[in-house]
Amino acid sequence: MNNFTFYSPTEFVFGRATETQTGTLVKKYHGTKALIVYGGGSVVRSGLLDKVKRSLDEAKVAYVELGGIQPNPTDPKVYEGIELGRNEQVDFILPVGGGSVIDTAKAIAIGIPYEGDFWDFFIGKSVPQAGLPIGVVLTIPAAGSEGSGNAVITKLDGLRKLGLHTPAILRPAFAVMNPELTYTLPAWQTASGITDMMAHIMERYFSNTPGVEIADRMCEGVLKAIITEAPRVLAEPDNYDARANIMWAGTVAHNGTCGVGCEEDWASHGLEHEVSALYNVTHGAGLAVIFPAWLTYAAKHNVGKVAQFATRVWDVPASDDLQAVALEGISRFKTFLHSIGMPVSFKELGIEHPDIDLLVRKFHEDKGQIAGNYVHLDHQASREIYEIANQ
Ligand code: NZQ
Ligand code: ZN
Repeated sequence: MNNFTFYSPTEFVFGRATETQTGTLVKKYHGTKALIVYGGGSVVRSGLLDKVKRSLDEAKVAYVELGGIQPNPTDPKVYEGIELGRNEQVDFILPVGGGSVIDTAKAIAIGIPYEGDFWDFFIGKSVPQAGLPIGVVLTIPAAGSEGSGNAVITKLDGLRKLGLHTPAILRPAFAVMNPELTYTLPAWQTASGITDMMAHIMERYFSNTPGVEIADRMCEGVLKAIITEAPRVLAEPDNYDARANIMWAGTVAHNGTCGVGCEEDWASHGLEHEVSALYNVTHGAGLAVIFPAWLTYAAKHNVGKVAQFATRVWDVPASDDLQAVALEGISRFKTFLHSIGMPVSFKELGIEHPDIDLLVRKFHEDKGQIAGNYVHLDHQASREIYEIANQ
């Protein structure tokens, strides 16, 4: 096991009606004037935005609003939020929504005190030194941004979708998580979220670091729980316990716990981010296409952990033929993805003719000439993975 520092200070307030505590929590973390950030309207339709505002009123916290954040969020809304936040002198950022809203809020939080262009942080030109505190009201279990130290934004100019990892500054101070708020999610978003959280665990699980039994078993355990709960949550969208288990799984999958002591991979996310940047597909659905393709490549070049994944997560009988075991595991994973309504090829995702040359070029521009750790991907390898996804 590698040395590690794990610092995850987010206060998770989980359960029914917890959104009514939002105002008190903002105050607890010294907010006096909040910038509420939200998406395309689901929180207006559900009445959640009004409830959050009521809670802020009761706690005597002032607020202004920035709505209209779209999935795969882009830079113009970040600039708009920075300007609004500065003009209104807010001292707290309050996203009410999913990963796209939270990530926009995170970028605004570090952009407000910074004199330069917030995009500097995403291209590695500068490292954030300060940020306004962030508190989240989560409406979709998926990206895990409520407990992660990351933000992902697409720059429209050049369609570059880049992630920033600065846990000390980007981890929210609190996250309010009421599973009932997720009852209104369409099946597609529920399933895409499930795929994304599984991928967050797998990016950590596929590691060459030896001696990580705790991390391995945590990853396998959470994956198995998700596989059990996924059909339940899709069949019964208002099953509280199923929603609650999936919601907490999304946080555990990405707040760092599952990867402690491991060298993580993250190539599949890099490969997918190019797809959602170019074609504006739902991130989790993009991963349903990319991850099985990556696994197929990995099974050929470093079979060990793929075979372990097959036996321990997908109950494939063990055998000396590790390749066969691994391939059977990948096949069961794809069957599961289909069963929850996910695509497993570009065509099924609605991309008839992906521009693989461009995807490969952008992937290596953004991630370096060699990407990934479990298997090292050069141009040839990443092309092969995109081509497998195109079969
Ligand atoms: O915009 P509204 O109207 O709110 O609708 C949203 C949106 O259309 C809808 N939705 C959310 N909660 C709902 C709801 N509809 C009905 N009822 C509810 N309770 O769902 C749609 C998707 O929302 P979005 O925020 O885009 O989903 P998600 O949480 O999957 O976030 C995806 C973004 O996060 C990034 C992805 O790349 C993508 O840009 N990621 C962020 C990460 C991080 N910060 O740590 C890690 C991830 O790997 C990921 O890359
Ligand atoms: Zn993801």
